[in-house]
Amino acid sequence: MQIFIDTADIEEIRDAAAMGVIDGVTTNPSLVAKTGRPFKEVLVDICEVVDGPISAEVLATDYDGILKEARALAAMHENIVVKVPLIAEGLKAVRTLAGEGIRVNVTLCFSPTQGLLAAKAGATYVSPFVGRVDDISGNGMEIVQQLVTIYQNYGLETQVLAASIRHPLHVVQASLIGAHVATIPHKVIHQLLKHPLTDIGLERFLADAKKIPNG
Ligand code: G3P
Repeated sequence: MQIFIDTADIEEIRDAAAMGVIDGVTTNPSLVAKTGRPFKEVLVDICEVVDGPISAEVLATDYDGILKEARALAAMHENIVVKVPLIAEGLKAVRTLAGEGIRVNVTLCFSPTQGLLAAKAGATYVSPFVGRVDDISGNGMEIVQQLVTIYQNYGLETQVLAASIRHPLHVVQASLIGAHVATIPHKVIHQLLKHPLTDIGLERFLADAKKIPNG
């Protein structure tokens, strides 16, 4: 499973990239707003740090507007993947953009039927929002499972990008299901590597090392 980091914070991205654990980045307007920085400036910085797919979202909701923004974003850097919402105008744009060789991550997917249509339209990635479904007492991971099965059944090349990941168990579940990608917040990436027995073990080794005689 590929791991993307779900943030627009360049320091978080630098930290995860330095560990060598991320294959790409996803952003959204909420994450960019949190940085307090202009969108394009943030994207330029991210493209300098990570050599992998970097999702950047359009704000337009009409076909022409989506195309205009998407083409401009894609022209910024070869690693930019345009993020388009899962609405009818969005799918029309996906079809056109895919025909032009522009990769699209179709976002805000909450059902297997939505995901099936996005794949038919030519999406490179589809992002089911796991945590937000869990938030309303649904089973977000079930949609990831359904999409992986549907795409496999018909040899669809679209990749399932598990998004709205909130905790390490989501990551375990997504990888067991066979999601192609999980996009994970910086805090959760650190939770994935933390284990109390590692900390206790290291503390003990360092304490014992002090007892080793010199020479
Ligand atoms: O990038 C989109 C998605 O990961 C959002 O997550 O936690 O705001 O539902 P969240």
